Amino acid sequence: MTGRYLGKTVAVTGAADGMGRAIALAFAREGAAVLACDVNEDGLAATQALLETGPGSIDTMIADVRDEGAIAAFAVRAAAPTGALDVMVCNAAVKGDWAPLAEQPREQLDLVIDINLKGTVLCMKHALRHMIPARSGVIINLASVQSFRVGFPGAAFYAASKAAVVALTRAAALENGQFGIRAVGIAPGPIDTPMLRSSGGDWPPPIINDVPLGRIGTVDDIAKAALWLASDESGYISGATLPIDGGWLAP
Ligand SMILES: NC(=O)c1ccc[n+]([C@@H]2O[C@H](COP(=O)([O-])OP(=O)(O)OC[C@H]3O[C@@H](n4cnc5c(N)ncnc54)[C@H](O)[C@@H]3O)[C@@H](O)[C@H]2O)c1
Repeated sequence: MTGRYLGKTVAVTGAADGMGRAIALAFAREGAAVLACDVNEDGLAATQALLETGPGSIDTMIADVRDEGAIAAFAVRAAAPTGALDVMVCNAAVKGDWAPLAEQPREQLDLVIDINLKGTVLCMKHALRHMIPARSGVIINLASVQSFRVGFPGAAFYAASKAAVVALTRAAALENGQFGIRAVGIAPGPIDTPMLRSSGGDWPPPIINDVPLGRIGTVDDIAKAALWLASDESGYISGATLPIDGGWLAP
């Protein structure tokens, strides 16, 4: 721990489990005042309980990324400790039920697009409302390897939502670079989280055979990248989405 995020505020959505939890803990362990939101109250409490004393903190808020009023309040509260919002991590998403496109019910389309795409838009929008006046800030969007390659039949809506997240990241970078704001994406490969484990079947999942590094990724693989992407060490990176996938996209 270096305390490199002391005095910084960080908002993380979907932080009750998986990568969001790891990202919230990583920033807090580096000194940040983190506000973590999710729809899962027990999971949020567990995230908070995992933080050792200091140097940073994790505050929690029940908020659904589909609810614009809640997300506006989330951004206000995240900025409250210092008056500025330094980092917004748009992480909350659902996998949806995977099925052939011709058999997918309309409800699944709405669910996946409302959370993964529209929810990300709302979090970006309300983060920018704090970052633009401050002329500073970093938005980190969680995309997917499926933004670039639909590797699994049945995942059309999920892949489409995640491809849109890459486009949103580029658009935000283009519009807001003039204000000193960066927007970057992370495209995880298979990472050991409840989302991947809920896919069913054998563990480890067969996709491991297509990962050149030969292992499933960990939430810490992603959290470490988030710390770097939000820092000045990556200060000339904007608009890009970085695959963190053990090489899965390489072939
Ligand atoms: N796990 C993987 O292999 C993988 C691969 C590629 C991309 N991703 C992406 O990485 C991110 C994190 O995934 P994960 O595997 O940690 O997922 P996860 O399912 O383990 O955790 C997601 C969290 O988001 C929360 N959430 C869901 N809907 C919400 C809503 N409407 N409002 C607020 N919170 C909500 C859930 O309660 C949960 O705590 C997601 O954007 C996901 O699409 C995951």
